[in-house]
Amino acid sequence: MRIPAVNLKPQLAQTEPRWRALLDGLFARSQFILGPEGEAFEQEFAAFAGARHAVGCGNGTDAITLALRDAGVGAGDEVLTTALSAPFTAVGIAAAGARVRFADVDPETLQMDPAGAAGLITKRTKALVVVHLYGQPAPVDVFTRLGPVVVQDAAQAHGARYLGRPLTAWSPYVTYSFYPTKNLGALGDGGAITVNHGRIAARLRLMRDGGRRGMVAFTSGVNSRLDEMQCCYLRAFLEKLAEWNAARARIAGFYDEALRDCPGVRLVRRTAESVHHLYVLRARRRAALRAALAAKGIGTGLHYPVPLHLNPAFAACGQKRGSLPAAERAAREVLSLPLWPHLPLTQAEEVAAAVRAFYTR
Ligand SMILES: Cc1ncc(COP(=O)(O)O)c(C=O)c1O
Repeated sequence: MRIPAVNLKPQLAQTEPRWRALLDGLFARSQFILGPEGEAFEQEFAAFAGARHAVGCGNGTDAITLALRDAGVGAGDEVLTTALSAPFTAVGIAAAGARVRFADVDPETLQMDPAGAAGLITKRTKALVVVHLYGQPAPVDVFTRLGPVVVQDAAQAHGARYLGRPLTAWSPYVTYSFYPTKNLGALGDGGAITVNHGRIAARLRLMRDGGRRGMVAFTSGVNSRLDEMQCCYLRAFLEKLAEWNAARARIAGFYDEALRDCPGVRLVRRTAESVHHLYVLRARRRAALRAALAAKGIGTGLHYPVPLHLNPAFAACGQKRGSLPAAERAAREVLSLPLWPHLPLTQAEEVAAAVRAFYTR
């Protein structure tokens, strides 16, 4: 694509001297798992997120599973999350042994709807996984008042605050993915959990490393560690993350203005606290629009084309077509436009003009 949906190369080029220097140090030390690079990254990421601790792990899916397991979730429990998210949110819940159930979304923001979630809570509901979808903080304060422990899935929301406060101020666990295309991405898989309590951090550190102290396993753990090489890239990228998030905000603001009154398009409502992981709009005749944009060399994405309760893998939720109408409708209409920190404004103008031309020609 001439204007791809995501392009990581400029970020790599901009930070190359820094990550090369960190890699040189790593190769000289030759300690590739659980070493000083990871410890430094955990401290720097915790500081950036406004948390007391960050615990690295293998990916954002494992981060959800580890958080839920630490919260005591297991077989026989139910965990509630949004019907509009990456399948991995639900995969992480299922891996903790729980039955996953899905709540509908607010049709304006596409975040999980607190009233819908409240109506699905039963005595088996042990936890809520609240996703900050597309980079926009969901109303986590409302969710925490529903009762069950709240795990915040911030895989798309590195650097986001809610009502001016760090995400860890609102619930005990905040999970992150460092999948390469995220606002803060590794060059491979990676994840982390931020927490404010030292004892939780210590338990998570034990669990991610096989439950071991030395060569003896004390608790039932998993093998899910964030490796030293990824931490070299993550440390270099983290230094630029505030700048990159600001660039995303400028491009998203431009799309808002350019497409606000475009026929056939409905914008998704965002607050100023979003870190704009994706620019998602709702489009009439989406498939035709996508094809028209592709014909002009413009890449787009679908986040997400099938609501989670209709994914065959999650049929055990027991929720049928028609049960979560706002998420089902959104899944038919959402379209993600190109958004990455170094996207030239001239290219964003081209994208917006192409969308407009499709509906007004
Ligand atoms: C909202 C959300 N949750 C969880 C995940 C899982 O992260 P990972 O791919 O690092 O396991 C992702 C990314 O795919 C995501 O977007």
